[in-house]
Amino acid sequence: MSVCVQRHEELATAWFTIAFRVKLRVMAELKATKTEEARRAIERLNANARTTDQLMEGICQLLNEHMLKYNWVGFYMLEEGANPPALLLGRYQGAMTPHTRIFLNQGICGAAASSGKTIVVDDVKKDSRYLACSLETKSEIVVPVFVHGKVAGELDIDSHFAAAFGEEDRKLVEHCAQLVGKRMEKD
Ligand code: SME
Repeated sequence: MSVCVQRHEELATAWFTIAFRVKLRVMAELKATKTEEARRAIERLNANARTTDQLMEGICQLLNEHMLKYNWVGFYMLEEGANPPALLLGRYQGAMTPHTRIFLNQGICGAAASSGKTIVVDDVKKDSRYLACSLETKSEIVVPVFVHGKVAGELDIDSHFAAAFGEEDRKLVEHCAQLVGKRMEKD
């Protein structure tokens, strides 16, 4: 290979590396802006929603609209007096789901409610607990809603993209779940 051709290839590689890094940075900044926009919209919603139901409905709509990878957003709430305890589908945004009632020993939803911990699944195919709602779902986050220190329900989000939920997403979704929990404490 001539020195000239080699130099050309080195320059092309360097150019692609720079272009790729710029693209990654632009994508990260775009996502940060979207997350910030969603946060502000959620704060406005929280100030204006008159009931917990309005707050939950608004959170589903806003997260689904603002966050490109949040393809299904919904609340499951613990059914009052149910024995064994079960989660009932509440407000949601996205395609219909066959899972309108989930027992606590079922699914990622049951696991999050019974452990009281946020669960992030980067690849639902690799998690044996996963209850399929849509063939398109690749990753999922489920965040418990606490009322007076006890789990009262959860906010569940599915994505058509693998590993869609990073640290910033977790903070945003946990914030939404906290707002609902605090509102329920006042009801
Ligand atoms: N995938 C959930 C079931 C609910 S749907 O995602 C809407 C689970 O594994 O519990």
